[in-house]
Amino acid sequence: MSSLNRKVVLRSRPHGAVTTDCFEMVEEPLGAVPPGGARLRVQWVGIDPTIRGWINERGSYMAPVGIGEVVRSSGSGVVVATDDPERYPLGGVYTAMSGWQEYHDVAPDDVLPITPVPDGVRVIDAMNTLGQLGMTAFLGILDVAKPQPGETVLVSSAASGVGSLAGQIARLQGARVIGIAGTDRKCRWVVDELGFEGCINYRTEDVSARLKELAPNGVDVFFDNVGGELLDTVLRRIATRGRVVLCGDVSTYDTDEPAPPLRNLRYLMGRRARMEGFNTLDHWARLGEAYDALAGWLADGSLIRREEIVEGLEHAPDALVRLFRGDHLGKLVVRVDKDAR
Ligand SMILES: NC(=O)c1ccc[n+]([C@@H]2O[C@H](COP(=O)([O-])OP(=O)(O)OC[C@H]3O[C@@H](n4cnc5c(N)ncnc54)[C@H](OP(=O)(O)O)[C@@H]3O)[C@@H](O)[C@H]2O)c1
Repeated sequence: MSSLNRKVVLRSRPHGAVTTDCFEMVEEPLGAVPPGGARLRVQWVGIDPTIRGWINERGSYMAPVGIGEVVRSSGSGVVVATDDPERYPLGGVYTAMSGWQEYHDVAPDDVLPITPVPDGVRVIDAMNTLGQLGMTAFLGILDVAKPQPGETVLVSSAASGVGSLAGQIARLQGARVIGIAGTDRKCRWVVDELGFEGCINYRTEDVSARLKELAPNGVDVFFDNVGGELLDTVLRRIATRGRVVLCGDVSTYDTDEPAPPLRNLRYLMGRRARMEGFNTLDHWARLGEAYDALAGWLADGSLIRREEIVEGLEHAPDALVRLFRGDHLGKLVVRVDKDAR
């Protein structure tokens, strides 16, 4: 084991779109393993849209990352040193909020727990499809949107980690699913491989006109990851008793501009529709059930997932910049340990 930890820290807060010079790679000596805790050699870290909110001055639903602090992110790692071998056995593999670094120390009283990766599960699946992304898609669709067979479900950021799973889970409930995504390649993927009935490229097509064609009776469920103008456009096409699930508003993350006003809220009233914010953290009690269902669908091929792998911790900052250009299919992850599989 190295005696140094390489990590990516926040050097300055972004003004407008995030740039790579907001981050800096530093090395520091590793100290002792925390009493009763363990040290993980980090294998993978996630490039998650929510990181953009955490590096702002005001943070988001969690405290902001401080200047000079390691960038907070999802991740996974292997125990390489332990002060409690029964609780954290050497060689044990865990998902954790590891942050963008090579070693992550775990203390027994950490607020954010680490979770063992079950035998036979791909680590990268444990972080994503069987981790927070999958839980978000599953719980957002089944507990909040509750689509009925034959209903029309519209998913924005349809080719994202969450969106691609949410659309497939809605389809497994018997709904007809339409996506909205930012490139033709993404649209082709969700239609040809994931079984969506249609997909609108919001950068090149008239979303409102295309929705009239694809959802002539209106949108029963809008699972929204984007917010802003796109949300406002879809509100006009909401069906009677429709549901809008506010899962994310990624269009507002990478900018200092305030979110544009919603001008079409009155359509919710006229059509007796409702709009509901949702955070996976509130649904902890259902995680076991969600895990079993997602693992079953993965095993029998009902659920397709994809990730794009960026090699090397030093590329985590450019991967975050890339996330907001939106050219990846599925989930963006960084391989920190070159031997990780
Ligand atoms: N509520 C919860 O508990 C919860 C938990 C996890 C994640 N989320 C939310 O779920 C959403 C998807 O997360 P993820 O990790 O699956 O994302 P992801 O795979 O990293 O994909 C993000 C996608 O967002 C789109 N995007 C980026 N900038 C945009 C902009 N300015 N306008 C419109 N679209 C933009 C891009 O797709 P296009 O090419 O299609 O634009 C990009 O590929 C996010 O909104 C996230 O905040 C919510």
